[in-house]
Amino acid sequence: MLIKRVRGWELPERQATPEGTYMQRRTLVRAMGLGAASLALPGLALAQNKAASDPSAGRYPAPRNDKYGVPTPMTEERQATTYNNFYEFGTDKSIWRAAQKLEVRPWTIKIGGMVEKPFEVGIDDLLAKMQIEERVYRHRCVETWSMIVPWSGFPMRSLVEFCKPLSGAKYVVMKTLSKPSVMREQRDLLYPWPYTEGLAMDEAMNDLAFIATGLYGKPIPQQNGAPLRLVAPWKYGFKNVKSIVSIDFSDKQPVSFWEKLQASEYGFWANVNPEVPHARWSQATEKPLGSSTRIPTLLYNGYAEFVAGLYTDRKAEKLFY
Ligand code: MTE
Repeated sequence: MLIKRVRGWELPERQATPEGTYMQRRTLVRAMGLGAASLALPGLALAQNKAASDPSAGRYPAPRNDKYGVPTPMTEERQATTYNNFYEFGTDKSIWRAAQKLEVRPWTIKIGGMVEKPFEVGIDDLLAKMQIEERVYRHRCVETWSMIVPWSGFPMRSLVEFCKPLSGAKYVVMKTLSKPSVMREQRDLLYPWPYTEGLAMDEAMNDLAFIATGLYGKPIPQQNGAPLRLVAPWKYGFKNVKSIVSIDFSDKQPVSFWEKLQASEYGFWANVNPEVPHARWSQATEKPLGSSTRIPTLLYNGYAEFVAGLYTDRKAEKLFY
């Protein structure tokens, strides 16, 4: 994500440099052979072996639910698992190696706020209660790259029902693990850690909202948000909080991570709309990972028929960033 921070002298290169220039520099470094190690395949194979020893590995691949379409072409697995945004591990896209250090068992999720009774649940106990399915969704990052990947997991609605929120709850607020010893970027206190995101209750109950615990027919890798992350495919990718450890229900709209940093550029609703530019770039087109050609971006990322109705009574809100 590109942000403007007030204290510019403290910015890591990526935020201080326009993305194009930064990427050219990276390409140059790679061409010089210095970045080649980060693309070496043995490391990736190791990560995949680790995925096979995950206690939930037997739940994948899961039966596919194609009710919401099966967009094509599918992004190559290697692209989607080696080009990531996970700021806790670093501010560039090559964090997948560093993310392997994240232990995802045991993993406890704390449920609280406006619920009948606060409680904690371990990821494997939660998985045992859920029916796992696969959905192929488009993903559109606010930075204008995109991908199409097969997530496995369960509807967000099932998770909400499992949590038993009170009737006055209006928002679901989700947070990422805090672990600066492994998530090294969390030592940079200029960021408002932990990464926090939220959905309005009706968004969370919408058919499309999904909790991913798997990817490409295997447990989801750390770099993509193991052991569980949100997938709201009609919104910009930053809404999709990774490696969730707490779920709270509230009657107040939360202020999310990027909103805290730059509210004029990253809002709460963040629905994809090609006609509403970001403060500093157009959102009209996107570049699929692995492709050199840009394609038009679709309203609600192509999911208007499922979600546009959520916003008919919210026209006064800033819905599209
Ligand atoms: N969640 C956490 N905790 N930290 C992050 O930096 N980045 C977001 C989102 N979730 C992010 C996060 C952004 S900007 C995007 S585009 C997606 O994760 C990227 O998901 P992917 O790496 O699986 O493609």
